[in-house]
Amino acid sequence: MALLEIKDLHACVGEKEILKGVNLCFEPGEVHAIMGPNGCGKSTLSAVIAGHPSFQITQGDILFKGQSILNQTPDVRANKGIFLAFQHPVELPGVGLAQFLKTALNAKRSFLGQAQMDGVQFMKHMNLRAKALGITPDMLKRPVNVGFSGGEKKRLETFQMAMLEPDFCILDEMDSGLDVDALKVVGQGLSVMREPNRSFMIITHHDDLLQYIQPDKVSIMRDGQIVTTGGVDLVHQVEEQGYDHFR
Ligand SMILES: Nc1ncnc2c1ncn2[C@@H]1O[C@H](COP(=O)(O)OP(=O)(O)O)[C@@H](O)[C@H]1O
Ligand SMILES: [Mg+2]
Repeated sequence: MALLEIKDLHACVGEKEILKGVNLCFEPGEVHAIMGPNGCGKSTLSAVIAGHPSFQITQGDILFKGQSILNQTPDVRANKGIFLAFQHPVELPGVGLAQFLKTALNAKRSFLGQAQMDGVQFMKHMNLRAKALGITPDMLKRPVNVGFSGGEKKRLETFQMAMLEPDFCILDEMDSGLDVDALKVVGQGLSVMREPNRSFMIITHHDDLLQYIQPDKVSIMRDGQIVTTGGVDLVHQVEEQGYDHFR
């Protein structure tokens, strides 16, 4: 069974239709890159999977582990294992990152009927992952995303994902604005997360991040629809020729 399946999905903001019949399938363990010109609906698709309330689904369905999630709130979807790393991470003034993650992690565990993590277990879980992603103790105490550089925010998103261990990871232009060193940290952080039951939807315009986490499939989106699906050679085709000849 597919981990996540999108069937003929149509979504609108107000009167405007943005997704116009998206079909996509993610097998367990699959890394699937999504590419497409600005404004074609990639971020909308991510937001709709995560359950963002701004968009109305007018047709189609999203199945996660075989069940429709359209009627579920974003927190339920997150607890079930869907994680969205934002293109533009939101700042949460007054909320310390470590505390935020402990609350989120324990909410997920209680949803899944697992025991709560105590302080010691949590610190161990956190320190290991923070170190791998170059997150300092000072960064862990600061409010979520407040005053961090673009590159630091992307590392923090990767760290949050590593902490929550989701089954379905959506990365919306995770590589934009990263310098070479940060790209390497994020890329390696992602590659160690690759597991047989975890799938990735990676929205990108370049090959850079995909060097670290090779996609099994690549799909091209245009004007609210998937127009082509193929192998990794599509990435190079886009890099060389742009999106124009994909219709
Ligand atoms: N909240 C919104 N209100 C109005 N239009 C929106 C909203 N969100 C997205 N759009 C429009 O939907 C289209 C797709 O946007 P988006 O999903 O962000 O594209 P992409 O991520 O592929 O660049 C754009 O034309 C954008 O202006
Ligand atoms: Mg976008």
